[in-house]
Amino acid sequence: MSEKLAAVILAAGQGTRMKSSLPKVLHRIVGKSLLGHVVQTAVALDASPIIPVVGHGAEQVRVAMAGQDLRFALQAEQLGTGHALLCAEDALNGFSGDLLLLCGDVPLLHEETLRVLIDHHRHQAACVSMLTATMDNPAGYGRIIRGIEGVERIVEEKDADESERQVREINTGIYLFRAPQVFALLRDVDNRNVQGEYYLTDVVAAARKAGERVEALLIDNAEEAMGINDRVQLAEAGKIMRQRINATHQRAGVTLVDPATTYIDPDVSIGSDTLIHPGVHLRGQTRIGSGCEIEPGAVVTDCTIGDKVHIKPGSVLSESTVGNDCAIGPMAHLRPGTVLAGNNKIGNFVETKKAIIGEKSQASHLTYIGDASLGKNVNVGCGTITCNYDGVNKHQTTIADDVFVGSDVQFIAPVTIGRGSLIGAGSTITRDVPADALAISRSEQKNIEGWAEKNRQKQKTGKK
Ligand code: UD1
Ligand code: CA
Repeated sequence: MSEKLAAVILAAGQGTRMKSSLPKVLHRIVGKSLLGHVVQTAVALDASPIIPVVGHGAEQVRVAMAGQDLRFALQAEQLGTGHALLCAEDALNGFSGDLLLLCGDVPLLHEETLRVLIDHHRHQAACVSMLTATMDNPAGYGRIIRGIEGVERIVEEKDADESERQVREINTGIYLFRAPQVFALLRDVDNRNVQGEYYLTDVVAAARKAGERVEALLIDNAEEAMGINDRVQLAEAGKIMRQRINATHQRAGVTLVDPATTYIDPDVSIGSDTLIHPGVHLRGQTRIGSGCEIEPGAVVTDCTIGDKVHIKPGSVLSESTVGNDCAIGPMAHLRPGTVLAGNNKIGNFVETKKAIIGEKSQASHLTYIGDASLGKNVNVGCGTITCNYDGVNKHQTTIADDVFVGSDVQFIAPVTIGRGSLIGAGSTITRDVPADALAISRSEQKNIEGWAEKNRQKQKTGKK
């Protein structure tokens, strides 16, 4: 099919019921703004151009969507949905083809559903096609009024009479129009209705009057057309989207112990036979390998994790790369720029940042490794600190292969530790250490015989 498809996304409304200083379409579910989800669907359909119509918080919306191939249209005053589409006309630049109209606050629509709508519209050579749904409680929605020759018009709830209100088939607010013809029809739409707005829905009656074909496609699952008006619905939609994402992973071979409390962003990928416990958050562009285990309370953001990695409870990993067969945590903190080569152990209360760590090296407890590079088979003892910051600049610690670092060592960077050397516990290392050396820097121990006993006697007797 070579027909052209463009998309307009209505996103100018205030979203009063969100009670928010943030424009409604910028509220997020599963790590992405409502508008971001809708744009993603339009992109998946190869629509071009994609035109969000913005108004309330227009600048904020533009900034938030920067970097995407969008052409924005401004609706300075919100005079209704019909007026909003008219505002996109210039941005369409004479576009001739099928025009998909989406709403920035309807994020759950499946791409597949829209494909069916597009196919139907083209097959029927319709002028207007819309998605409709049947609802047990249609309150608030526009009603689809059908006659013997199909859909005649849409009536808004506020304008409907008693019998029209009984209709349970509703307008989802998603349409396909023949462009540029729709704009000619829109110019004939007035605002003589209860709300004094220019209704996009009136295009249906206008098209029928012009003798054009109008099609309505009833979707099975009304949930898809759910619009977000308040924060209760925002959470509901988030839950539905999470369930979809989780089910996709489960079907692809990922075990989720409790999908209801597992939070996986849409762009995350996970290998098969990975086991994910409750309360895990996988965010952003994270990639997880196969056969991993991720325990409760782990938060992993924008990381690449290899195969058979065990992330233990309460660990936080950001913008880091973890090789195969590593064990992380419990309560480890891998900050941006951490790269673990593989077979590493990063244990409890260990923090790393901009740290390149070679194969089989480990830091098992209570350690800070920042601005550092470690070779292979390095053992970092408990309580070790790379002192990377002198108050003005950050400095590098370099540790070669096979170094053994005793407990409670401070490396005053910049400093380089030679291969196979041994650093005595409790040392403060200020100078480079040659290969195979022992470096030790601590004052010699003095034992004063009987001193403690004498001191106790003194306290018991005369002291005061
Ligand atoms: C609209 C439809 C209704 C449908 C319902 C589905 C009309 C007249 N009614 O009603 O038939 O059942 O959606 O959810 O179209 N917007 C603008 N500029 C405006 C007005 C609205 O950009 O001037 C945007 C809003 O931000 C929102 C969308 O258009 O994203 C829908 O507007 P809204 O006011 O929510 O329409 P409804 O009354 O819900
Ligand atoms: Ca609405």
